[in-house]
Order: sequence, then C-alpha cells, then structure tokens
Amino acid sequence: MKVLVVGGGGREHALCWKIAQSPLLSALYCAPGNAGTRSLATNVDIAAEDMTGLVGFAVDEGIDLVVVGPEGPLVAGLADRLRAADIFVFGPGAQGAALEGSKVATKDLLERYRIPTATSRRFDRAGPAKTYLEQCTIWPQVIKADGLAAGKGVTICATAREACREIDSLMEERRLGSAGERVLIEEFLEGEEASVLAITDGEAILVLEPAVDHKQVGEGDTGANTGGMGVYSPAPSLTRRLLRQIEQRVVIPSIHGLRREGLEFRGVLFIGLMFTEQGPKVLEYNVRFGDPETQALVRRFSGDLLAYLDATARGELSEMTPPDWDPAFCVGVVGASDGYPGSYRKGDRIGGLEAAEGHEGVVVFHAGTAQEGEDTVTAGGRVVCVTAMGETIDAAREGAYGAYDELDWAGKFCRRDIGTRVESRMERLASMSPEPQTRP
Ligand code: AMP
Ligand code: GLY
Repeated sequence: MKVLVVGGGGREHALCWKIAQSPLLSALYCAPGNAGTRSLATNVDIAAEDMTGLVGFAVDEGIDLVVVGPEGPLVAGLADRLRAADIFVFGPGAQGAALEGSKVATKDLLERYRIPTATSRRFDRAGPAKTYLEQCTIWPQVIKADGLAAGKGVTICATAREACREIDSLMEERRLGSAGERVLIEEFLEGEEASVLAITDGEAILVLEPAVDHKQVGEGDTGANTGGMGVYSPAPSLTRRLLRQIEQRVVIPSIHGLRREGLEFRGVLFIGLMFTEQGPKVLEYNVRFGDPETQALVRRFSGDLLAYLDATARGELSEMTPPDWDPAFCVGVVGASDGYPGSYRKGDRIGGLEAAEGHEGVVVFHAGTAQEGEDTVTAGGRVVCVTAMGETIDAAREGAYGAYDELDWAGKFCRRDIGTRVESRMERLASMSPEPQTRP
C-alpha cells in the first residue's frame, strides 16, 4: 500500500513511525514532513495547506491512502477533494471537520443530541454580548471565538470588565479576524481535564486508550496554553468504569449525532472533556489525532495501525478486532524553544539526538525540526517529544527525562513535572464520577 501522511509535526512523525512498521506498506511519503520523518518516509515538499499540490501528488503517485494530521486542511476540505479523486482518506470532509472549525457548530450538535456540555449563549454582535455580560451574576465566564484560532480563542474572564474587553478585542478589533465574528459565552466548568480519542468510520467505533496532555507552558499547570508540553498514557485516573460512562454518554451519542446529521465521518474524533461533579462534560471536539497524545499512543498500540486507518477510510472498521495495547506506561516530554508559545528562535543546531535515542525504551519524535546539510536544526516552537516506556509511570518518566537531558540546542526548555500528578488526578477524577444515588 502506498501511503501519504500530510503534516510535519510530532504527531505526523509518530504516525509515520508506526505506519512504517506495517507489513501492508510498500511506500511512505510525508508532506512536508520534518527531519525525523525523512528517515522513515520520503519527504515531499508540498505544504499541508496546498490542496491542489497534495491532490495532484496523490493522483500522480497512485497513493492508496492519505492520512491527514492537522485540522487546517481537513476544515478546508482536503479530504473531500481527495475522495472526489477516488483516493481513500483517513480524516473527515469539511462538514465533519466543522466540529473543530466552529465552536457554534459543535454546541449545536451537543445540544441537539443532549450530550453533556457547559451551558452557553451565542452572539454575533458586540453590543448584546456586552449587555448580557454586564447582567451576569456568576463569575468567571468563558469567552470563545467561534472559528479556528490555534489555541488562542478561549479566554476565562473573572469580571464583566475583563469579559467586555475580550468581546471588544474579538468583535470590534478583530484580533482573530473572521474567527472572532461570532462568540460563545459559556459557563465556567470546574474539574479535571482529560481527552478521549475514538477512531470511527461513522458506524463502528474504536475507543483508544486514554492519554493525558499537559497544556500549559509552566510547571504545576501555570502560564499560557500551548499545543501540549507532555503526555502520559495510560491514565490510571480514567478507570474502566469511567471510560464506559464516557463511551455511553459522550462518544456513542456524538457519532450517532454526526450520522443523524448526514455527516460522513471517517477518521478520529478527539473529545476534550472536563470531569465535573456532575460527570464528564464535553469542552471541545477535534477531528484529528492529538499532539503529543499520538506520540504516546503509537508507542503502546500493539497492532498494525495502518490496517485500522485503512479500514476506517474504506468504511470497514467493523471488520477489525480491537487491538492490543502494551500495558506499560509511556511518558512523552516535549522539548521547546525559548519564547514558545509566543515567538521563538529557529535555526539552532540540535545536538545529542543519537545519544538520546540510544537510551533503552526511548523514541525521540521530531516536531519543529529541519535538516540543514549534516545538521538537524530547530524549526518550530515545539522541537521534539522524547518518549520512554516503563513498567511504572515513574520509570517511564525517568527514562524520558534521562534521554531529554542528552539533547542540546540554544533556548531549550521543557516542563519538569510531566506525569507527576497522576495520583492526585486519579483521586479527584474518581471522586468526580457520580455513581447513581441510592437512598438508605
Ligand atoms: P477549548 O478549545 O474549547 O477546549 O478550550 C481550551 C481550554 O480552555 C480547555 O482545554 C480548558 O482548559 C479551557 N476551557 C474551555 N472551556 C471551558 C469551560 N467551559 N470551563 C472551564 N474551562 C474551559
Ligand atoms: N494536545 C492537544 C491537541 O492536540 O489539541
């Protein structure tokens, strides 16, 4: 099978790493890829946003399956264009991808199918939004830009003044352009966050093992939100019972809802959840694999991932038996460049890659890296994700940091607390999953 992976980050390196192990594979391409994917795939110099270029390449090369990594091309309709050219695609068409491209579209689906979520109001003009905020008695409130905003579209506001300023910034000053033309004002949910990913062809559903991201840039979950600074999997906090509850209350109704809406969805639905005292509530849907969640998941997925991706793209997922998972822990530590998630430096030489990869149980997934002659250099805010396996989470964490410390580039930094809060999270999550009440 000839496979094209679209994208060039850590998630795409991880997908290429796993797909490259498949006996079904005859040739692997990655567009545009990074310095890590070039050792597993042929990097093709076509940007993930260049739909005409990608479709042309896939047709000319006779690609059998395209796996789309990032949301941008999906929201823009890349999967539709490829399907129109008779190419199988893992990833939804533009209509399905609107779940990630529009928070209002997501809320519509959640409300219509009674999937638990925060209550909200929507506004397309600043005046009424501010009038509403000035009358709110419960604070904080959460302001969300409707469109794609690269993680910058959600603000938690403590006061009406702050919230009105955010409305002006989005709707009057158009800080995020058209993404902020419509906003949601949402109830603030308190609890613990976790994500659940499910592969689906619109009919069959395969819920993947849980992986927990660390979104904020600073230790102890402080500072600005990022794409994700580290990951661990499995999540002992997400017990079987809790996962079953999520599947019944959230995953199945979501995919059922998509089908009822006539939306064909063949790909992965990544559901961001808040575990509240009333149980799990949906924060957001993503229509792609998580980054860095995927880096941990591919290390633990014991089956032939390509077979599952291909079956999903063909609408034959029901024919697959559930895969096995390595019960060991994986911890992934993201190494970033000084300044991330703001502006950061690029083009610095990365040293120590071989030494890091020489550590037992370690795989270094590249994210923002590029090859310049003999050198691998930094080319993005998140530079690598160093993953290690271990029988315990502590062993996996020590393995990951041990290998991370071999690496060297100017302005390198990471969070030192990836996978250290597992126990406290476990206790909190367990206490937040209400059992049906029985009267004495
Ligand atoms: P979203 O893009 O909707 O997932 O929001 C980004 C982040 O904002 C989430 O990962 C949460 O940490 C936070 N967030 C979003 N909505 C809420 C909410 N209703 N209550 C509390 N925090 C939220
Ligand atoms: N790690 C979060 C995301 O991929 O959206």
